[in-house]
Amino acid sequence: MITLNNSLIYEDPRRLAIPFGWIGHIPFAFFIVDLLKPKLIVELGVQSGNSYNAFCQAVDYLSLKTRCYGVDNWKGDFYTGLYSDEIYKELMDYQSQTYPELSTLLKMDFDKARNKFDDHSIDLLHIDGLHTYEAVKHDFNNWLPKLSDHSVVLLHDTQVRQADFGVWKFWQEVSLKYLVFDFYHCFGLGIVKTGRKANNSLFNMNPKEQQLFRTFFRKLGTGLLLKFALSQTLLLSNTCKYEIPELYKTLNHQYEEERIIIRAMEYVAKNANKN
Ligand SMILES: C[S@@+](CC[C@H](N)C(=O)[O-])C[C@H]1O[C@@H](n2cnc3c(N)ncnc32)[C@H](O)[C@@H]1O
Repeated sequence: MITLNNSLIYEDPRRLAIPFGWIGHIPFAFFIVDLLKPKLIVELGVQSGNSYNAFCQAVDYLSLKTRCYGVDNWKGDFYTGLYSDEIYKELMDYQSQTYPELSTLLKMDFDKARNKFDDHSIDLLHIDGLHTYEAVKHDFNNWLPKLSDHSVVLLHDTQVRQADFGVWKFWQEVSLKYLVFDFYHCFGLGIVKTGRKANNSLFNMNPKEQQLFRTFFRKLGTGLLLKFALSQTLLLSNTCKYEIPELYKTLNHQYEEERIIIRAMEYVAKNANKN
């Protein structure tokens, strides 16, 4: 039986950056950390840190003793494209100021980082590296020995079927072998029960409960995504450039943020026909 009684899931993320692809799963990231209370979280594929920062934020909010490790070569891959070292530097600055006790970034290839972890030690592994079938299968199998008896694995992009994205295909295979649950929004997120003793509640919902659970996190996640995307768009929009900045001064307060977005949208709507 799943209960959604922790206010954490309604929190705003403390830091968001481009790319936006994972933002819609942040409320679930908060939820799963609260549900599992893992001792060790590892993420493969961090980039600007939207997913990784969410795990860290949850650990911090809940005052858990969890250790978090984010692994990435911070070079980029075929799908993300190559990117500059600024992304790593900015994230490293933020991480070392915000989560110095609980988090470590490992700037290296996944295969190299693997030896840094004891066998049967990782309770929550998020795989979000290169998304070809071969790469995701390799990452999953390569890290299996590192997973604990209580472990759960998250796989991002289970719904993407374009080009040679292959997480969906690997997901079909995993689903035959393990207990699983998946979300369809924001490119799909698969959850795999890899540990014998892992919390069962996500995996034994009846179809009605599954549907409600999916809808709940889709609404929460896409709401967050839209709010962030809208505030970014408005900040960048030429129409609002001179009119809105005063209002943005109070952006860190939730109520003010919504008021600003409403005011800014009204401004855009009123001025839409003038240009
Ligand atoms: C899809 S992005 C991660 C997105 C991130 N989780 C988020 O919340 O936005 C994939 C990242 O994996 C990294 N990557 C892919 N294959 C890798 C490998 N074998 N070793 C290290 N990093 C890798 C890339 O550099 C890229 O930054």
